[in-house]
Amino acid sequence: MYPSMSRSFTVADVDDLVTKLQTEEKISLLSAPNWWNTTPIPRLDIPSIRCSDGPNGVRGSSHFASIPAQCLPCATSLASTFDVDLIRRVGEFLAAEAKIKSSVILLAPTCNIQRSPLGGRAFESFSEDPYLSGIMASAYINGLQSQGVSAAIKHFVGNDQEHERTAVESVMSDRALREVYLYPFMLAQKLAKPWAFMTSYGRIHGVHCSENPELLQDILRNEWKFNGIVMSDWYGTYGVDQPINAGLDLEMPGPTRWRTPTLVNHVLTAQKLSPSTLDDRVRNMLSYIQQQARLNPEVVYGDGKERTRDTPEIRQFCRAVAAEGIVLLQNRNKVLPLLPNRIRKLAIVGPNAKGSVISGGGSAALKASYIITPYQGIQQGAFDDLQISYTIGCYAHKYLPTLENHLETPNGEPGWLATFYSHTEDGELTPPVAEFVLNDTRVKLNDFIPAGLSENWTLKMTGRLSVDITAPFELGLTVAGRAKLWIDGELTIDNWTKQTPGDFFYGQGTIEEKATVKLEAGKKVDVLVEYTNSYPPPNQNDEGKTVPNAQPALMRGLRLGGCEKIDAELAIADAVKLAESSDAVVFIGGLTAEWESEGFDRLSLDLPGMQTELIAKLAAVNPNTIVCIQAGSATAMPWKDEVAGILQTWYLGNEVGNAIADVLFGKVNPSGRLPLTFPKRIEDIAAYPNLRSEHGKIYYREDLMVGYKHHLKQKIEPLFGFGHGLSYTSFELLDCIVKQTGTDIETSVRLQNTGAIAGSEVLQLYVAYPDKGITHPPLQLKAFAKVHDVAAGQVSTVKLKLDKWAFSYWDEKKNQWKVDAGHYALYLGFSCEHILHEKIIELGNMLSWTQL
Ligand code: BGC
Repeated sequence: MYPSMSRSFTVADVDDLVTKLQTEEKISLLSAPNWWNTTPIPRLDIPSIRCSDGPNGVRGSSHFASIPAQCLPCATSLASTFDVDLIRRVGEFLAAEAKIKSSVILLAPTCNIQRSPLGGRAFESFSEDPYLSGIMASAYINGLQSQGVSAAIKHFVGNDQEHERTAVESVMSDRALREVYLYPFMLAQKLAKPWAFMTSYGRIHGVHCSENPELLQDILRNEWKFNGIVMSDWYGTYGVDQPINAGLDLEMPGPTRWRTPTLVNHVLTAQKLSPSTLDDRVRNMLSYIQQQARLNPEVVYGDGKERTRDTPEIRQFCRAVAAEGIVLLQNRNKVLPLLPNRIRKLAIVGPNAKGSVISGGGSAALKASYIITPYQGIQQGAFDDLQISYTIGCYAHKYLPTLENHLETPNGEPGWLATFYSHTEDGELTPPVAEFVLNDTRVKLNDFIPAGLSENWTLKMTGRLSVDITAPFELGLTVAGRAKLWIDGELTIDNWTKQTPGDFFYGQGTIEEKATVKLEAGKKVDVLVEYTNSYPPPNQNDEGKTVPNAQPALMRGLRLGGCEKIDAELAIADAVKLAESSDAVVFIGGLTAEWESEGFDRLSLDLPGMQTELIAKLAAVNPNTIVCIQAGSATAMPWKDEVAGILQTWYLGNEVGNAIADVLFGKVNPSGRLPLTFPKRIEDIAAYPNLRSEHGKIYYREDLMVGYKHHLKQKIEPLFGFGHGLSYTSFELLDCIVKQTGTDIETSVRLQNTGAIAGSEVLQLYVAYPDKGITHPPLQLKAFAKVHDVAAGQVSTVKLKLDKWAFSYWDEKKNQWKVDAGHYALYLGFSCEHILHEKIIELGNMLSWTQL
């Protein structure tokens, strides 16, 4: 970004720099000039450093004209691998991805807790279990930071659902806070020392996390000895002096709302903020920027450009990571893998089979450099002579599918043309200010606006649309701001003069307004979307035109979608007919980035559209029906007992199709294990009665009994339990030796592959605490290990270690960690429900401590 800047800053003395900075400069360092960069101070050769989302890839610094990136699997899929070394390599991989996007900070990992699988961002967090979550986060951070890229672990803390996320207080006991919700962050601090923390939007103990001294000073800095920077979530700073005093170093994004010279000088004068506290925050920022500049001079002093990587090795890595997260939930009659001697004709059915379902939505979404769809992957990975047929069966979209693959610009390039216009004082359009070709009909303008635009402006998106069948098509236009759609010069959708609010664009957008048009195969029609960021002044109707004195929208974006209108009954009937005449059916469906995203939670576990009905009908006519569910979290499976095979295939990134095919055809023996419980019914979720914000509070009444702990305690059978996952082979535990020195325990377990092919297994160690008048979860995961590629018949030895933390709980009375003396049960198994071996140990002495 600063090729010609002197690098003197990398060797400068930070304390000395603080003395040289003027107050205004100090203030500017505590906020940002834009969405993704820190503030540079060229006078003192202080460069800016860039951050990027996170967590399943590195999007780069523009939602609008994104430079494509590699998309890795979502966090639940990564956690399903139970493979610490692999996740560390994922971190290293992402560091390289960050650097080619000129970024040295990745806004990741997310390690909030799935207290409910319905949380909008459940896909983005690792697990319902705090230990698994913290171990995965640590591995990810260690990989990332080993390559010099800073993690910004998020969201600290309690952003476990999305409803009213900026306002809500997560009300929980101190034990739940410590033992469940802070725990992954604490483990990450203990094992990986992230260089940055991002606060969450909501409140703990009534105080917003970004201005909460108990969290940021007492716990994070004093108790855990964190010495990096703390940044707010985007627009998650809510005041001037309180956040700075509480320890929030950086307000994000910029331009600042709270840290203007006027406001900060005002609180300095009023002595609500002391100069020395301001200096503390500045010192943190300078040390952090300096560290990142020293570690990555080629990036920080580079050209600032963003690039894409793509090599066969990179593709292979993404494919392997994706395949390793797939969980084989059910495999009746060994329907999988699909083998030539059993299957000749395969039917592929389902709304996601040809879709680009690669990640959840919101800030985790990115433009992938390429996508292998499940349909393509299965075609490419199939054995010779397999006849493959496809029919969609049903739709399941929330918004109509995007249309970029059917559009060309007026010059015939792929995509459509974006032309920006400023408004004159009279509300008239100026000549074009800037033009871009976009290959996406989701247009996000929150972090990018071309230079030189007036405050209110217009964007015209133009292109030619062509489809390959003659049929009625439904088109949809969703907007944050206002927009209209013209087809061949005819106004087709007006989402301008009258608008209905919806949950799009983090809840700032409208619902999708729809219209039906008749399109002919191969005949191009002109598409024009006129968009403005401005709203008329209150009580004034601009009748669909731009006007003077309009007010700009906070969130800006538009989305054009469309697809053929199908007859739902007919589509199901076609699929059933195909299933009847096939040897096996692979159904690919589930959710999409539009069902699981930021700003809202799911309301139901049910699969959207007619998927549930369709799957049951396919299974009724074909005994070899295999269901692949793409979703970042749990969904209902009322057809479980009717289908033969079920694969949880999460959101798997670019290589989704190849990874699914690798497991279907047995090239990869599945070894994923569920990192969260799949409940049978919504009512079985521990947090079910308390999922939303009421009067600004979400009560975590399930307390410590999150996920499997609740199911075990209440004896509620899950659909599939925590840690569950099958393989194409089988393992047995031969023996287990336990060595104990005080609270340090080492278990050595021999596992034998008793099946016919090589495979991997995950050994899980759960601890049950003694009852000393204090309630504990019945079982708690405290160690796990994966054995890889054990040949048929071979034995592999696994060692699992425990220390005092494995037996500790938070003593609310004394505010410290405590281990009670007594008898503890160690349970070794292949899931929390599938325990193979039990061993009782005795701890002789009571222990207590506070520091990490
Ligand atoms: C999300 C963060 C993200 C940030 C920047 C926020 O909406 O909560 O996780 O890093 O946006 O995109």
